[in-house]
Amino acid sequence: MSRSPLARFTALVERRLGLHYEPEQWDELAPLLFERSASRGVEGYLSLLSSSGSEAEWRALAERLTVGETYFLRHPAQLEVLVSKVLPSLAQPGASLRVLCAGCSTGEEPYSIALLCREQGKVDPSQLRVLGIDVNPRAIAHARNARYSTWSLRSVPVALRERWFQRSSEGFFLRPALRDQVLFEERNLLEEAPAFWAPASFHVILCRNVMLYFPPEVTRKIIARMSQALVPGGYLFLGPSETLRGISEDFELLRSADAFYYRRKAPAPATAAEPARTPVPETSAKKTPGPLPLPALEGLDSLLPLLDAERYAEAWTRLEALPQAAQPQGQLLRAVLHLNAGRFAEAALAGQQLLSVRDTEASAHFLLGVCLEHSGDEAGARNRYAAAARADPTFALSHLRAGTLARRAGNVAEARVALRMALSLLPQEKPLRLTLFGGGFGRHGLMQVGLRELQACTEVP
Ligand SMILES: C[S@@+](CC[C@H](N)C(=O)[O-])C[C@H]1O[C@@H](n2cnc3c(N)ncnc32)[C@H](O)[C@@H]1O
Repeated sequence: MSRSPLARFTALVERRLGLHYEPEQWDELAPLLFERSASRGVEGYLSLLSSSGSEAEWRALAERLTVGETYFLRHPAQLEVLVSKVLPSLAQPGASLRVLCAGCSTGEEPYSIALLCREQGKVDPSQLRVLGIDVNPRAIAHARNARYSTWSLRSVPVALRERWFQRSSEGFFLRPALRDQVLFEERNLLEEAPAFWAPASFHVILCRNVMLYFPPEVTRKIIARMSQALVPGGYLFLGPSETLRGISEDFELLRSADAFYYRRKAPAPATAAEPARTPVPETSAKKTPGPLPLPALEGLDSLLPLLDAERYAEAWTRLEALPQAAQPQGQLLRAVLHLNAGRFAEAALAGQQLLSVRDTEASAHFLLGVCLEHSGDEAGARNRYAAAARADPTFALSHLRAGTLARRAGNVAEARVALRMALSLLPQEKPLRLTLFGGGFGRHGLMQVGLRELQACTEVP
């Protein structure tokens, strides 16, 4: 059966730009397809998009389809740890410090880094190289122009604004000293570009609030590329509602105050090309896999510290050797291990088998929700999280995920209710559930995620 023009259009958009649309969202793209195909007809337009001469049209589509919401000093806790700890820990005399903002939109994020570095004075500005890339040509032109509105500057204290911006009737112009410290390039993250992503090209990559629009297989590919482009021990910052769980095992999760971020693990010593050169700026939220002394626990409980330490392969071997492996709780642990290894089909199958057992029903719904989310079915995932919350109304994490997805779907009222519920339940959430389903964030981290999500509900215009 031949697919509808809208289905083919959305598939082309996903393949080229990474942007994923659910079938129930396809109608939103109909006016755009109608408009862009007016001069040559839909069939002609779709074959143009598949042809090699479509560059200009894809640039036009990138301008229309990407979401460029950003502002100066966004997610300040992350910027603070980047500028006051991470960058100073990486700096070496005479060597450059290379920072990439991938999906930089109109430039507020890379300029914020340059501005804070100047303010804090812990990094020599002449060492700092900040590069912003984005697929949207208009955003890149705006970034290069460096003229901003009061809305973009809404989180910048007046004293900083006075120091770093020149006011004119057309807006606030960033002062040249800062503007010239940041370079911009139009670039698609999905494009193979071996020279750009060459090993050890960057010390730090920020890719915040970009990949939440991508399906997991696209995210996996991009993260793998970024991982290799980082120096060993280099750092990756994602947006607060983005995670590497099920995406990559190349990184360890770190936390400093309210900020979560990742550090690329050093290669195993036997194959290490270059040792990690950087001291740890803060305590790890997770321990690096290695010879970690584990508390002596019996039975299934003995697996939990292994899960906390992300030693999944060991946990799997130990689980298979336990007599309790066949019990529902053992099956649940097996399903979670599948999930953490990115084996979503196996995790979903195990989740289905657990649905009828009272003790595991809520967890099974949650697990199936995570699998659906990873397959890109956010509406289906929301239903599963709601079912998990019905099976156990105290299940804070199911309210948190349901709220996050509702917010993403633009259902702000529903999101607020679910997120408030999550925040009121999280302090009492069972430690076992935090280990199994918390994605490595811990209670405090999840509270922060919930608060940020709630805050984002008020940012929606
Ligand atoms: C919501 S903005 C995030 C801006 C900034 N990182 C922040 O957190 O404030 C997402 C940006 O990702 C860019 N983007 C989306 N798909 C992309 C792709 N395939 N390649 C490069 N940039 C992309 C969009 O153009 C948009 O400017």
